[in-house]
Parts: sequence; C-alpha cells; structure tokens
Amino acid sequence: FHVDWDLVTAEKAGFDHFMLKEIHEQPKAYRDTMLGRIADDGLSVNLKELSMLDDYIRSISKVHIVACGTAYHAGLVGKSVIESLARIPVETDVASEYRYRSPIITPDTLVIVVSQSGETADTLAALREARRNGAKVLAITNVVGSSVAREADDVLVTWAGPEIAVASTKAYSSQLIAFYLLGLNLARVLGTQEQQTVKELIAALHQLPEQVESILTQSAVLKQVAESMANHRSLFFIGRGVDYAVAQEGSLKLKEISYIHSEAYAAGELKHGTLALIEDGVPVIALVTQEGLYEKTLSNIKEVKARGAHVLAVTNAGFEHEVAQSVDEVFSIPKTLPLLTPALSVVPLQLLSYYASLALGHDVDKPRNLAKSVTVE
Ligand code: G6P
Repeated sequence: FHVDWDLVTAEKAGFDHFMLKEIHEQPKAYRDTMLGRIADDGLSVNLKELSMLDDYIRSISKVHIVACGTAYHAGLVGKSVIESLARIPVETDVASEYRYRSPIITPDTLVIVVSQSGETADTLAALREARRNGAKVLAITNVVGSSVAREADDVLVTWAGPEIAVASTKAYSSQLIAFYLLGLNLARVLGTQEQQTVKELIAALHQLPEQVESILTQSAVLKQVAESMANHRSLFFIGRGVDYAVAQEGSLKLKEISYIHSEAYAAGELKHGTLALIEDGVPVIALVTQEGLYEKTLSNIKEVKARGAHVLAVTNAGFEHEVAQSVDEVFSIPKTLPLLTPALSVVPLQLLSYYASLALGHDVDKPRNLAKSVTVE
C-alpha cells in the first residue's frame, strides 16, 4: 500500500490553497484569540498579560495606531472601537507616513502598532520613534518573539496561527478581535460603558465564530458573483463608518490577488469625484451593515445604480429584503452589534477575491510582486 503525498499538500489540509484554508480557520482564530481573556461570567474583559497599570490607562490622553497594509486596515476599525468603547481620541496612520509627519507623541500617548509578522520595517521604525519620544507602545502581533513583540512595552498576541498566504485573512480578522478585547479592557478601567452594554458586546463576541461558519457555508453564491466580476477591469467598494474601513480591506484583497483595479470609497464622497467613473455594468460592492446609516448608504447606492452600476450589497440578515429592492445582488451576514460587523462582513469579501483570482488563473497564495513580510523600508 502506497500513498503519494508531499508536505505542502499535507499542510493545506485538503484545501486547494493556503488562503482558502486560512479563511476557514477564522472561527478557530477568533475562539483562540478570545480564550482566557473574557471573565467566565461574561461580564468583563481583563487582559492580564498587559503590564500597563490602571493608573497609566487613566492617564492616556490619546492613542496612535500605526501599521502597514492589511494591519493598517484593522487599525482603522480599531480607531472606531477604541473611540466608541473607551472614549479616547485615536488617530490611525500608515507606518511609512507616521514618522515623517512629525506626529505629536507625548508620554501620555499610547502607541499601538499592529503587525501580523512583527517584522515589517516601517512598523518597527515607528515603534522605535514612539518609544524615543517617551510613549508606551502596545504591539498587536501574531508572532510571539518577533522584533515588534520584543521591543514593545506590552504585547497582545493574536492567536491566528501561522499565516502562509501572502494575502492576509485570519490575521486581519483576529486583529479586529484583539481591538474589541482591548477596547473592552480600557472601558472596564475607565468606566466608560454601562454593564449591560459590555454584557451584550461580550455575548455577541462569543457568537462570532459560529456566525463566520455560517457565512462559509454560503461560498458557492460568492464564487458565482466573483466569476462575473472577474471579467471587469475596474470596480468599486463603498461603505460608511466601519463599513468604509472594511471596504478598504476588501478592495486591497481583490487588487492583491486578482490584479483587478479597485478602489474603496466612503459612500458619501462618491459624488465628489469617483461617480464620474461609474458607467454601465461597472461592479460596485456596497457594505450596508450600520443601522444608523442604512438610509444614507442606500441613497448612495441609488446614485450609482442610476449610472448603470451592477451592485452587490453586503448587509445584515433582517435588512436584506429592503436592500434587495435597490441592488442587483444581496449577500446577508448574520445579525450582530454594529461595532462587530467588520469581523463578519470581511469574510464574503475575502471569498470574492479568492474566487476572482482563481477564475483568472492567478497564483492565489503567491501574487506577483508582493511579499508576505516586508523587512525593507
Ligand atoms: C505585506 C503583506 C501584507 C501585510 C503587510 C503588513 O505587504 O503582503 O499582507 O498586511 O505586509 O505586514 P505585517 O506583518 O506588519 O502585518
């Protein structure tokens, strides 16, 4: 009896590509990242691994989040999370810009660097700059013992496990989980949230892994949409609030592995320029998950529809029938709290990119010109 196998095939665990395997590992990555960090009674988050004292947390006057690529996009969601949960002002910067804009870093600035690999040169340089200026640095990283982890004052590890595909998926979404936990940890110390709100957020966090699983069972629909998208030269992602942050990540993912030109736009900004590019048949992917912003985003969808766009909306279960009247296709994600939707809405966007790349016959796991870890500035 003889079985043919090779190490790479074995490591893909039955999936055709590492990217698809890693997309499917997200429920586990979420559970592992939450493990041991939420009190058993579901009433609080206590990040005991952090050395920062409550007095220090109370002294933080502002937060800078600094990162590159996909990690930067997680930082955009992180800004909304920390501002809404802990009520501390946050700025998010790309690491290659941060140092050169003379950022105002003071000892009461908490600088959060986000890096899957913990080795990105620009992110590491930003960390050093922050520490030189007397700020404390918290690293959110997936690699224990990486350069970023070693040089930061505190480390919050994302337990996503090794990520092989160049296009980041489970590392990004686990960074979101890390931000939710951090936001709740800061809120506990600062007393900025009602106990009931915290309880609801924690209950909703616990539901995310299963909700991702249910999205993954609907891949076939996304494969079809991706195949029709793949014939286009250019497309657009739109959204408001955290939907805009996720739109930017969706657009990057698509560019990276399908080589289709795409842009993410804040839905309300379209009419200030980009609307000129919308013509018959141009695909627009609209994220419509923020309850307070439904009507506004729907009116932006109508603007692109009127110019002939073909619109796919990603929206919450329960709202899909209303959205369906204004768009060509709807993909619904399970209902969660508005702040947590990025951890779900990014999954269909990852799958769209994956299937578009596959349809075009590209090397999904190793896109041209890109590297998994960028250790030069
Ligand atoms: C490279 C990778 C991206 C990643 C970025 C930042 O460009 O291809 O997927 O988002 O670096 O990497 P880091 O390891 O710092 O998160």
